Amino acid sequence: MRILLICLSLVSAVRCCVAEEKPVVDETSGGRYEFREFHDPNGIGKFYLDREIARVMGHQGISWLERPEREEEERLTLLIKALKLKPGMTVADIGAGSGVITVLMARKIGTDGKVMAVDIQPEMLQALERKCKGLMIDNVQPVLGTNRTPNLDENSLDLAIMVDVYHEFDFPYEMLSEIAKSLKPGGRVAFVEYRKEDPAVPIKEVHKMSEAQVKKEASAKGLPLEFVENVDTLPRQHVIIFRKVPVESD
Ligand SMILES: C[S@@+](CC[C@H](N)C(=O)[O-])C[C@H]1O[C@@H](n2cnc3c(N)ncnc32)[C@H](O)[C@@H]1O
Repeated sequence: MRILLICLSLVSAVRCCVAEEKPVVDETSGGRYEFREFHDPNGIGKFYLDREIARVMGHQGISWLERPEREEEERLTLLIKALKLKPGMTVADIGAGSGVITVLMARKIGTDGKVMAVDIQPEMLQALERKCKGLMIDNVQPVLGTNRTPNLDENSLDLAIMVDVYHEFDFPYEMLSEIAKSLKPGGRVAFVEYRKEDPAVPIKEVHKMSEAQVKKEASAKGLPLEFVENVDTLPRQHVIIFRKVPVESD
């Protein structure tokens, strides 16, 4: 009984703290982000439009990205189909990791096309370069980005894709703004995110996103993006596509 009472008072103390917690607003980014003390241990305690940002997956996780059962679990073949790639396109794989998606896209767009493979971890890009060399794929250009920009040329891309990446961005608004700049007019950006709406998807909560949340973030003021479609043919992930439109003036 005594232990039960202690537990109950601990729970109510934690509830009290959470209720009274005042988030700290990050003024350096125009007040866009806030930090909360009580948060998911798999997140970084930084919130954007009420979503907690996930920790970046380290290069130690390469074997998980390269797991043989990935095709069966995620149906990457269907993902590539959903992207409607054409020979000669210039595309970017933002957060390319070890290059699983990069290689699939490089083959589809052919030698007249190009994949800009962007990551912030040099170890990921080294693994990706080794893989492309081994497979004799030479239409891939590795690009080292930062947590605020993918370092790509303006108006240069037909498509930018982020597979299981966007929810990890430390500065999602800034990244999306820079990605939009790098798209040609009418160019598309695809968010491939584990479906938060589906509790059966076996992924940690901060690594999932709902369609509504992606739409909210991609429609933030100042982003020249317009919703095109959500291709829901994959077993676990949304493929949510936006296109670049002319900037609206006030
Ligand atoms: C879960 S992995 C996914 C890798 C790859 N897209 C795949 O599906 O195989 C996430 C990757 O995003 C990268 N990443 C995180 N933040 C980034 C940013 N701001 N710019 C570019 N890459 C980023 C990480 O370094 C990591 O390699």
